[in-house]
Amino acid sequence: MNLLHAQLRIYQERINHYLEEKLADLSARYCPEKLAQALAYATLDQGKRLRPALVYAIGEALELPVEQLHAPAAAIELIHCYSLVHDDLPAMDDDHLRRGKPTTHIQFDEATAILVGDAQQSLAFQILAEDPQISDSAKIEMVKILAHAAGPSGMVGGQQIDMDCAGNLPDQQALQQMHLMKTGALIEAALLLGACQTPQYPQIKALLSQYAQAIGLAFQVQDDILDIESTTETLGKPQGSDLNADKSTYPKLLGLAQSKQLRDQLIAQALERLQQLPSQSSFLEALTHYIGQRDK
Ligand code: IPE
Ligand code: IPE
Ligand code: MG
Ligand code: MG
Ligand code: MG
Repeated sequence: MNLLHAQLRIYQERINHYLEEKLADLSARYCPEKLAQALAYATLDQGKRLRPALVYAIGEALELPVEQLHAPAAAIELIHCYSLVHDDLPAMDDDHLRRGKPTTHIQFDEATAILVGDAQQSLAFQILAEDPQISDSAKIEMVKILAHAAGPSGMVGGQQIDMDCAGNLPDQQALQQMHLMKTGALIEAALLLGACQTPQYPQIKALLSQYAQAIGLAFQVQDDILDIESTTETLGKPQGSDLNADKSTYPKLLGLAQSKQLRDQLIAQALERLQQLPSQSSFLEALTHYIGQRDK
């Protein structure tokens, strides 16, 4: 566990530094001061940076130079940060705390929070498109991966289902579909973005997707469990938010004990898939265990 946290810390520092640089570049072009401040507020903070860590870890396992991984790592984290800013808005989950501080619409205002999410999304694609380290053909592949995962058949579609089925619990198959879309899609995209510049990509793509979907689903099942079992202080976001909004979650459908069983089965499945990959990564193995055991 200590080795995991030490490596995760390295990835966190790496992406935080890169994101800081990219946001500082904005002041070289014109960006309204309030928007620049709100963008920094919603991007440079105590996020776990799990998705950039996945980009770096799979890329390094496949022996890709780190210079080719910064832009996709930043792009996926920016899309994730935007999903959180919008997820917290009054029209969505109406939450006041995120990453241990007031949500963006509380700290600034609702219009600014909407615009911050919009800006994070376009900045993600801008950073990819402008990166001098990545070939044009790889950029096109990355834009496809990211747009698909973020869009109507991915995160945004999953969020629509989430909003529409609050108070109206779907069956397990529909709940799985929602979780795979709202959370699994960006986690899958992180792994595909980290791998897609390597010659091994066509051979390992299907296996990587299966691994990613298993950890992505387990990640959201654990998120649902933590909404019940953790505390606001540990989570840095309000415990009980799902219960208050009568959200459709795994514990609501299956109960806590069965949700934990399912989470553990998914982690076991993910570890099997990971072992089938040609390049092994002890970090990814430890991270897979962590996803099932995390407390925040
Ligand atoms: C929170 O994601 C939203 C979900 C998809 C469950 P994280 O738990 O990765 O949030 P941060 O980035 O660490 O704040
Ligand atoms: C996670 O939804 C999915 C996205 C934010 C896209 P949640 O609503 O469960 O996330 P938290 O619990 O607010 O972080
Ligand atoms: Mg939500
Ligand atoms: Mg939420
Ligand atoms: Mg949640």
